[in-house]
Amino acid sequence: MVKIKANHEELCILKTNGGNQVKLFVVFEGLDGSGKSTQQQLLNAKLKSDKISTISFREPGSTMIGNQIVEILQSDQKLSPLSELLLFYVSRSAIIEEKIKPALDNHDVVICDRYFYSSIAYQGYGRGIDINFINEINDKVVKNIIPDLIFYMDINWDEKKNRKGINVKDRFEKEDRIFHNKVRSGYKTLAKEDSNKWQIIDAEEDINKISSFIYETVKSKLNI
Ligand code: TYD
Repeated sequence: MVKIKANHEELCILKTNGGNQVKLFVVFEGLDGSGKSTQQQLLNAKLKSDKISTISFREPGSTMIGNQIVEILQSDQKLSPLSELLLFYVSRSAIIEEKIKPALDNHDVVICDRYFYSSIAYQGYGRGIDINFINEINDKVVKNIIPDLIFYMDINWDEKKNRKGINVKDRFEKEDRIFHNKVRSGYKTLAKEDSNKWQIIDAEEDINKISSFIYETVKSKLNI
């Protein structure tokens, strides 16, 4: 069942699915500048205008401890890749326990901007931390709170550079490009491993076209 709510007041129950309540957990993934946050907001607005109860989060952040971790990550402190990884998981553990689980239990459609796939793509494929090790942490932290749908916004380096106005011609640009490509190919590997759940989206497509595709895909998962 999907609960239909207005202003968080429950109005009626729209759907049944073999007697089980439909819980939908949607995640947006992609490199910075790919437009995933915009698409998340558009989806949220469309579902809300259908009076479907949705709730949005972003990683890292969305909880008190998560926001403190964002401050550490944004500070000038030197962090090893391992410390960085573990900080993301402290934030993730809090958001799962405090926000995602209760929202799913409440039968909201949960939309999250980034999830553990970011750690595999950035810290694993990007920074070289052993992916089996990250998966072991996942088993302990994420457990069975696994998304139903993942929209991956795919962007190539040149397009990202144009969007962000990046204009550095030194070795940092080369390093950035290499890192971008490692993370990008990590995401593509993840998408291939679970192609039923992952939707790869060309981030260069028209914003409205992408948004309609995402909306239709979510509606069909909700059976509406
Ligand atoms: P943010 O400013 O929120 O970027 P975005 O809008 O692109 O999500 O910063 C999040 C940054 O943290 C982004 O560069 C991706 C990175 N990140 C990781 O490296 N690992 C993770 O597990 C997560 C959640 C994010």
